[in-house]
Amino acid sequence: MKRLKLILIFLVLSLQSFFLAAQNLKTSPEIENRIESLIQQMTLDEKIGQLHQVSGVSDLFQQQAREGKIGSFLNVRGATATNELQRIAVEESRLKIPLIFGLDVIHGYRTIFPIPLGEAASWDPELVERTSAMAAKEAAASGIHWTFAPMVDIARDPRWGRIAEGSGEDPYLGSILAAAKVRGFQGKNLSDPLTIVACPKHYVAYGGAQAGRDYHAVDISINTLREIYLPPFKAAIDAGAGTMMSAFNELNGIPASANPFTLTQILRNEWGFRGFVVSDWNSIGELLNHGIAATPAEAGTKALLAGVDMDMMGFVYSSNLAALVQQGAIDEKVIDQAVRRILRIKLQLGLFDRPYVDLQLEQSTILSNENLALALESARKSIVLLKNDKQLLPLNKSIKSLVVIGPLADNKSDPLGCWRCEGNDADVVTILEGIKSKIPSERIRYFKGCEIQGGSDKEILKAVEIAQKVDTAILVVGESEDMSGEAASRSSLDLPGHQEKLVKAIYETGTPTIVVLMNGRPLTIPWIAEKIPAILETWQLGMQCGNAIADVLFGDYNPGGKLPVTFPRTVGQVPIFYNHKNTGRPPSEEKFTSKYLDVPVTPLFPFGYGLSYTKFKFSDLKVAVEKADNITQIFASVEVQNIGDRAGDEVVQLYVQDVVASMTRPVKELKRFQRITLQPNEKKKLEFQLNANELGFYNQSMAYMVEPGVFKIWIGNSSVEGLEENLEIMD
Ligand code: BGC
Repeated sequence: MKRLKLILIFLVLSLQSFFLAAQNLKTSPEIENRIESLIQQMTLDEKIGQLHQVSGVSDLFQQQAREGKIGSFLNVRGATATNELQRIAVEESRLKIPLIFGLDVIHGYRTIFPIPLGEAASWDPELVERTSAMAAKEAAASGIHWTFAPMVDIARDPRWGRIAEGSGEDPYLGSILAAAKVRGFQGKNLSDPLTIVACPKHYVAYGGAQAGRDYHAVDISINTLREIYLPPFKAAIDAGAGTMMSAFNELNGIPASANPFTLTQILRNEWGFRGFVVSDWNSIGELLNHGIAATPAEAGTKALLAGVDMDMMGFVYSSNLAALVQQGAIDEKVIDQAVRRILRIKLQLGLFDRPYVDLQLEQSTILSNENLALALESARKSIVLLKNDKQLLPLNKSIKSLVVIGPLADNKSDPLGCWRCEGNDADVVTILEGIKSKIPSERIRYFKGCEIQGGSDKEILKAVEIAQKVDTAILVVGESEDMSGEAASRSSLDLPGHQEKLVKAIYETGTPTIVVLMNGRPLTIPWIAEKIPAILETWQLGMQCGNAIADVLFGDYNPGGKLPVTFPRTVGQVPIFYNHKNTGRPPSEEKFTSKYLDVPVTPLFPFGYGLSYTKFKFSDLKVAVEKADNITQIFASVEVQNIGDRAGDEVVQLYVQDVVASMTRPVKELKRFQRITLQPNEKKKLEFQLNANELGFYNQSMAYMVEPGVFKIWIGNSSVEGLEENLEIMD
């Protein structure tokens, strides 16, 4: 009976996702007829052309586009350039099939928003949807149809530089933000000219790279794959994402770009994905290095049969598929199927009817005032106040003198972060500029003090001399933009170069010191966390960086962001994440328990943590479980009150733990959250509803199930604080 129930739950869930995915990729008899009629007219070379994506423009590529031998370009942007190439495809090629232009529109196109890890700290899906929609609008107006985003890789290892590109360590937060981004990019209807098609990446488990080294092998259990790494992809597909990118990494011995288990069994058969899969850059060619193919032909065969429809810059499909079909090694029907998926997206985007973009529209859409206002809003909401002893912050605008120090204080490039797209340094408001807009310039001193990676004692001494003479010192330190992102793994998470030395020297002057961190990953800053009274984590906030930070420094905006990722004390604790297992010997004072000799087991700053200039009180946690029509629902409510004297935001977080189960479960798992704004004294009752199905896991037979029994539930303001209750799920 129980088994039957489980099978039924599984079937319902699978059908649900099938339905969701199919519904979001709206097709129609007209679209399907058009696809079939085109396929009938296409030569084998033209079909393979649709599966071929190249980067940049050249005479050769133009000629190939004319011959119908290229289906897509990446890295060509701007209305003029894309229109010109498109003209070749739709006016000079035999079947006039339009090209699809792809680009990494990761956190803005021309108006640059915070890096994704930073924006995840806003815990605000509605905001994330709006910034994605804005990025889509600018990109679409410049001829882009397709973004290689969102990057939804869960990252539990901050050494991995690409942690900057995603939403952090948690599958639930990651899923909510993944779906928000897809909705933002794609809008309600892909055929709307100001939307672009999304491409969740990198499918899958790329963030699990051994030792945090980019492109490295991933060896994880199938449970971890299903419970940690897959959910944000599933959420993106359920939100309607039209394409998917297969990753560089191997997963348990099979490279992700030739993996039938993930690309066909899970993605297509379980989830009902109907869009197309593009490889990552030459990830099909790299199957040779992985050692699972002896020749490009073998690599191409494996990738295509596993489910990769389009070859990004690998030239493997374009050079080998025709011969493979002629030799009978690949059935042409497999190629037809990939072509069908690609043409379907082109038709859904409306490219056949509207292949060109309007130059005027490009002008009026890019960098409008509305876009800049949104860039400021998202930057402000992404800032996390890590420490504020004795309410050193916010600063009073009547402050007589202050010094701004540090290599990132007046820096116009690094705030744009990795994947800055068309972002321009000249449009960046630096922190110094932001501060100058708050108080008269005569009261502000500025001195760099050191470089991000270099410097001298002499410069530090000069900074000290200035700091001694002012009321407050603001130090802006962190990483350069190229220290995170692709191929930017670090073995140390310390502040690079002489920066910590600079901070220490300024602190020793006795002048009240504020540290503003600008970085693409969690940093190990235990000394700063202990000694410096006020610390802001500002990530890389994009174009409006300086205005947003100055607003927070001077109290024009009350910070409310929360960490989407755990900050370790030392790199030796990595991987460290909040939803870990308990072990048979949880850490305690006892010697023979799971811990370190030389460092506490706890993080420096936990997941979900962040302060405010006001205080919030949580009370009255109530939990009820109700069963009707065989569906068990959990209702939880809590009262939150602003007990400080200024308005502020709190992110109310709900966690659960399955206390006893047939397999070990994490000590806590985030299941709901909501960012709210409360006026001084205002009290709000928050209500959360969960389906008991959401409390399940994959058991030893790989069946998703909810095991009856006692669960703990917490609602609080981080992963380590909260009111606690028990609830019981009955059989
Ligand atoms: C990256 C992808 C990116 C692609 C195209 C690759 O190197 O891994 O994230 O979308 O390049 O630029």
